[in-house]
Amino acid sequence: MHIGILTGGGDAPGLNAVIRAVVKTAISRYEYDITGIEDGFDGLIERAFKALRPLTLKDVRGILPQGGTILGAANRGNPFARKVIRDGQEVVEDCSGLVIERLRAADIDVLIVVGGDGTLRIGYELYQKGCAVVGVPKTIDNDLGGTDVTFGFDTALNTATDAIDKLHTTAESHHRVMVVEVMGRDAGWIALHSGIAGGADVILIPEIPFRWDVLADAIKARSKGGAKFSIVVAAEGAQPADGQQIFSRAGDGVTTVARLGGIGNEVARRLEEMTGMETRCTVLGHVQRGGRPTPFARLLATRYGAAAVRL
Ligand code: F6P
Repeated sequence: MHIGILTGGGDAPGLNAVIRAVVKTAISRYEYDITGIEDGFDGLIERAFKALRPLTLKDVRGILPQGGTILGAANRGNPFARKVIRDGQEVVEDCSGLVIERLRAADIDVLIVVGGDGTLRIGYELYQKGCAVVGVPKTIDNDLGGTDVTFGFDTALNTATDAIDKLHTTAESHHRVMVVEVMGRDAGWIALHSGIAGGADVILIPEIPFRWDVLADAIKARSKGGAKFSIVVAAEGAQPADGQQIFSRAGDGVTTVARLGGIGNEVARRLEEMTGMETRCTVLGHVQRGGRPTPFARLLATRYGAAAVRL
């Protein structure tokens, strides 16, 4: 058996732990060959065989606690809809056949795809075209169907909670309202869990559109009750009932994904206007995707990796 593995989409702490578990299980337990594909599907399409690298036990030594991915990742390239230049014109093309061809040419029997909703959808579509694929669910947002928890989430939650703890003390010193924008496009798990764990006063999540007046009243009520500061946690995908999600860049819906961002600053601006209290916003951004995976994430990622090889 010859296994290929790639990591796709945005990175998350624990990817290296999955790669390590896959390599160790494949080699030590089953004596399978294993090849890493660099930079996800993009690597395979753009660099062909140059993106392939045999993985040995030595290659994965020491990577368990490291964030990121030793294979690199790309969260633009969808082989089923790729921007390519034909006769000087930019067109969108289905390159999935090329992916399958290259996997076959490399004698790869089965592909382990470690990714979030986008990458796993690509994996599923490749499977429908006859490719043997095993998916390992990854995302800090914790929003993949069929899973209770994805690796990446726990580490991001720790980072976000730590940030809220730190913002609490400075909010109290300066009698300010602190708005913290965390990641979470469609699901508010990071906001909800870090908000509760960090003792936030208001938590805004994409699943429940909020009202500006209710938000401002909650802050004013705290102030009336003697609290001189407040903490608001907003998922990047949170949206007002009378408005829409805020994007920092539009996407075309085919080859580029729209980039969320800006709700935290908008909440801070509106709250200052509506309550008269001094307000600041902190956008945690990609800090949540970095760093060493927590012990929980390492365990989960290791179990996913070993299970993927068994499958
Ligand atoms: O899906 C995970 C996620 O962290 C989202 O919450 C966020 O919108 C997105 O990735 C950002 O990805 P990037 O900036 O890498 O395109």
